[in-house]
Amino acid sequence: MTTRVHIIDHPLIQHKLAILRNRETGAKEFRELLDEVSLLMAYEVTRNLPLEEVEVETPLARTKCRMISGKKLAVVPILRAGLGMVGGILNLIPAARVGHIGVYRDPETLQPVEYYCKLPADIQEREVIVVDPMLATGGSMAAAVQFIKDRGARGENIKVMNLIAAPEGIAKMERQHSEVEIFVAAVDERLNEHGFILPGLGDAGDRLFGTR
Ligand code: PRP
Repeated sequence: MTTRVHIIDHPLIQHKLAILRNRETGAKEFRELLDEVSLLMAYEVTRNLPLEEVEVETPLARTKCRMISGKKLAVVPILRAGLGMVGGILNLIPAARVGHIGVYRDPETLQPVEYYCKLPADIQEREVIVVDPMLATGGSMAAAVQFIKDRGARGENIKVMNLIAAPEGIAKMERQHSEVEIFVAAVDERLNEHGFILPGLGDAGDRLFGTR
């Protein structure tokens, strides 16, 4: 793995991830935990945002402080499961714009099928965080990142945030989008014959929305 893959092993994230993996965890708790983990992960993903000096008047004196230098952000969930990661990030960065990319994975071929794409018009000027709980074969994420690049965004300005990744998905991203940084809470063992991450947490979309 290259240095472009960041595993965020903060104890709070690992603790919540363990509960998310548990098959006994119901949809309500799953949604709440994914929200919390997304907020905590966003803290790391935004670590290198540029700062600028500003002057602030405290009740006692004038002082120089640093604030985020107006860099514009976009959060792009991959539908459906990525939606579960948006709220947590927006709690931290309320001014971020949200784009949506609809990609589902054909259960037979495991190939990504695109069905929706609506991005902020100025996406090429923004720092983009693409979110999806699962990076399995990497097909969905690689296609989503390509959409965003096709709209003029540079790979250096795109970051990917996943809860769990399989080595196969990371390898695909490194082949197709080697300049894109990946932030994950865990890299699991492998994919099974149906393309599910092992041990994983099952189907994130179904667990979030109670469709199974
Ligand atoms: C799942 C998951 C990712 C994708 C990962 O979505 O949420 O989007 O598969 O697989 P990949 O890395 O092999 O492309 P799914 O197709 O089940 O759609 P959903 O989010 O609508 O449930």
